[in-house]
Amino acid sequence: MAEKQNYETIKIERKDGITWVILNRPEKRNAMSPQMHMEMDQALDDLAVDPATRVLVLTGAGKAFCAGQDIALFFRGTEDDPAARFRARRASNQWRWQKLSTFPKATIAMVNGFCFGGGFTQVCACDFAIAADDTVFGLSEVNWGILPGGIVGWNVTQTLNYRDALYYALTGDTFDGKKAQEIGFVNFSVPRAKLRAATIALANKMMAKNPAAVRYTKEAIRAVRFMNEPQAHDYLIAKGDALRFNDKEKGREAGMRQFLDDKTYKPGLGEFKRRKPA
Ligand code: ACO
Repeated sequence: MAEKQNYETIKIERKDGITWVILNRPEKRNAMSPQMHMEMDQALDDLAVDPATRVLVLTGAGKAFCAGQDIALFFRGTEDDPAARFRARRASNQWRWQKLSTFPKATIAMVNGFCFGGGFTQVCACDFAIAADDTVFGLSEVNWGILPGGIVGWNVTQTLNYRDALYYALTGDTFDGKKAQEIGFVNFSVPRAKLRAATIALANKMMAKNPAAVRYTKEAIRAVRFMNEPQAHDYLIAKGDALRFNDKEKGREAGMRQFLDDKTYKPGLGEFKRRKPA
């Protein structure tokens, strides 16, 4: 599908069901300008309903994933223009958190290099994160005399344990991909040479699954984090019913039939055979 938009700060590439969304200001280490926020905000709306996009991978051009907010354009550049600052802030939060965390297909952050400050939000928003071992992560805000704002402070307390969130926010110490895996900031870290292959393997794993089950599962897991037990119980029952109603593949029935009647499927010993709708 040809891109309707001519983006200048991001690049979109599609191959075999995977849509690669690439932050594309390598000369500025993919620091996020107001224009990048507007473009990402638009792109995620388009890709959410793009049938060719079955898994979205977010990454960066060149040697950085994202060097955080653009200090010149996002901060200083909007200092005397409240309207521009409002628009930039809103788009920044919308794409990095609201639109990415609720994206209706699986999302993977392929963290290919420097990841600082505001760049943490989109890593947290993606369903999965894979880093290169030599990636440099840093909550550098404290070194700028600011705090992990936007919603970075909230993101890290959701994703990391409290001690690590406080430690990295207060010290501004950097950490590498292996450490990011150890503290649960990414799912796994791999040598740089294997980063793309590992990402494609995970994307292929997700594409082999029933898309309705993937979508409803990610929505449910994210939502119940903010509920108490009675709310979660009620919500999960209703969400399960909604999945059953909306699943064109009727995966629940197929799985039960294969396990109970045909005896051709045992969870843990193999995958149930998907029958995709015509
Ligand atoms: N905002 C604006 N410009 C930036 C940013 C940024 N966040 N990060 C890098 N750049 C610019 C540099 O100023 C430089 O511009 P110039 O060529 O016009 O001088 C260019 O990108 C390349 O950066 P270098 O520093 O030369 O690249 P290097 O590879 O040596 O270092 C690194 C990369 C480590 C990412 C470094 O640029 C850096 O520390 N950036 C700031 C990271 C940061 O603290 N971000 C958090 C900001 S706070 C927030 O997000 C809320």
